[in-house]
Amino acid sequence: MAIRTIREIGDPVLTKKCKEVAEMTPRLSELIDDMLETMYDANGVGLAASQVGVLKNIVVMDVSSDRSAPLVLVNPRIIESSGEQTGTEGCLSVPGKLGVVTRANYVKVAAFDRDMKPFEAEGTELFARCVCHELDHLVGRMYVELVQGDLMDVEPADGEESTGNEEAEAAPAVQTASGENAEAAGQGETGR
Ligand code: NI
Repeated sequence: MAIRTIREIGDPVLTKKCKEVAEMTPRLSELIDDMLETMYDANGVGLAASQVGVLKNIVVMDVSSDRSAPLVLVNPRIIESSGEQTGTEGCLSVPGKLGVVTRANYVKVAAFDRDMKPFEAEGTELFARCVCHELDHLVGRMYVELVQGDLMDVEPADGEESTGNEEAEAAPAVQTASGENAEAAGQGETGR
């Protein structure tokens, strides 16, 4: 496993559409391992393959509070969504920034796991926000295009050296501040 470089906004790869994965290969399996390691290292809750420069329909996520529930989504698509949530989110590719985005409050996603077995996953709040954010990456869309109002600067915590990534990809701490999302499923850091 290796930590890969996270591409940042302005990098054209982030605006490109990812391609379907036809079959799992050792190379793609290694990519998935690296994406998970990169996401955890950056304290993110999600990461799309295009964010590490690979145009494949692959997303990794972990919205659990103790960072113990990795989820790998190959060729994911949203098959059901409902409701609405408005809250802040960030992105590992837009370090140091947050913005308010309205997303579905519930989504069900169909995908393949890393063995190319089909499965479905569903969830609300942070899970739903993260799925929407990551699937947008797969079609080359960044959350900054959806932000209501201005992008905000992340305030670095006292005495902490800021890498700009602490709150990346849907910071739940901030999401809680929006009130109705106070019970956000994943209280962990957020980074998509
Ligand atoms: Ni992102």
